[in-house]
Amino acid sequence: MTTSGLMGITAGTSAVSTVGKAGVGLTYRGYSITDLAAQSTFEEVAYMLIYGKLPGQQQHDAYKKKLVGLRTLPDPLKSLLEAMPASTHPMDVLRTGSSLLGTLEPEGEGGRTAASVGDRLTACFGSMLAYWYRFHSRNERIDTGSDDDTVAGHFLNLISGRPADPLKRDALDAILILYAEHEFNASTFTARIITSTLSDTYSAIAGAIGALRGPLHGGANEAAMEMVSSFDSPQDAEKSLLHMLEARRLIMGFGHRVYKDGDPRSPIVKEWARRLSEAAGNTSYYDISERIEEVMMREKGMFPNLDFYAATAYHMCGVPTAMFTPVFVIARTSGWIAHVIEQRGDNRLIRPLADYTGPEPREYLPIEDRG
Ligand code: COA
Repeated sequence: MTTSGLMGITAGTSAVSTVGKAGVGLTYRGYSITDLAAQSTFEEVAYMLIYGKLPGQQQHDAYKKKLVGLRTLPDPLKSLLEAMPASTHPMDVLRTGSSLLGTLEPEGEGGRTAASVGDRLTACFGSMLAYWYRFHSRNERIDTGSDDDTVAGHFLNLISGRPADPLKRDALDAILILYAEHEFNASTFTARIITSTLSDTYSAIAGAIGALRGPLHGGANEAAMEMVSSFDSPQDAEKSLLHMLEARRLIMGFGHRVYKDGDPRSPIVKEWARRLSEAAGNTSYYDISERIEEVMMREKGMFPNLDFYAATAYHMCGVPTAMFTPVFVIARTSGWIAHVIEQRGDNRLIRPLADYTGPEPREYLPIEDRG
């Protein structure tokens, strides 16, 4: 039996997370997303995903220090970032950057493992983005270090050239936690397929970035921002949305393959979007988003997924729209690595079947007889 888009198919076992499990909801290694987003740090969560358990205080401090030490970019990588056109999508910057790093610092050499590659990429993806961005937008060659010892603060600092505002840093830290892991989504499954061929970790991550780029997956947050920012007011949003729905257009940031009664991450990111908007004294995108949420519930019974309010939250943090999905990469690398390690731990080549719908067996005609 075939199922379109593998919907409802269980494609393997995993101890990394539960998504929409009855009575449990979204958990990372058994911890509820609500507890993690409220009480944890992104570094704790990344450590737990990659190394299997929450760190103690000393391990946490040491891990943060380790990530700080992994932020620098080798010179050939900087040259590549400079050579990329300014028009490059930053997802392509990360996909290409991770591929090059895989040639400069190959897995298996120098004691490098999937976990250490994960740490390196988690620490330096923000540096890659900022180096490329500042070089092409401001003609600057930046030092990719910063005084901020958090992944969120480091990214905000490098992108803006100023120390991160504490509220924005905390918001981005929580968003990174929300985006860090989500079971067998398209990009993670891509990483597992690549891993199942006994390929290397960099290849798995580069493939996962490619899968995440599309607007039905990670790219939805950018598309949601474009939509929200195209409306002048909540009234305008409602009127235009009704037209879009009549034209059967997809409303980005709504719906989900697994969650049918609500995305547990959405109220958390919505609250951050509200706090950031109120702190900035500008709630226009937030108000428009709330109206869109109301109309989607009333007209379609659909709820926002994480990407919808993440768009406003990112925007209020000062993250450029084209960087929304790349920030997702920074967060999700730890989840991808957890799955690479898990796949290797009990590997079998992932190779499903297809129901054939092509022509019946037929005679091969020489080229001159084909008409
Ligand atoms: N806006 C409007 N209608 C939507 C919709 C949306 N965002 N998402 C789903 N629908 C409609 C579909 O058109 C379909 O209607 P139909 O039965 O009349 O044809 C119905 O809801 C079922 O949708 P389906 O495409 O089967 O859901 P799916 O499980 O295959 O897809 C998504 C899930 C996430 C890909 C889909 O909801 C979507 O494209 N959302 C927008 C992109 C997005 O936000 N992605 C991020 C996901 S975290």
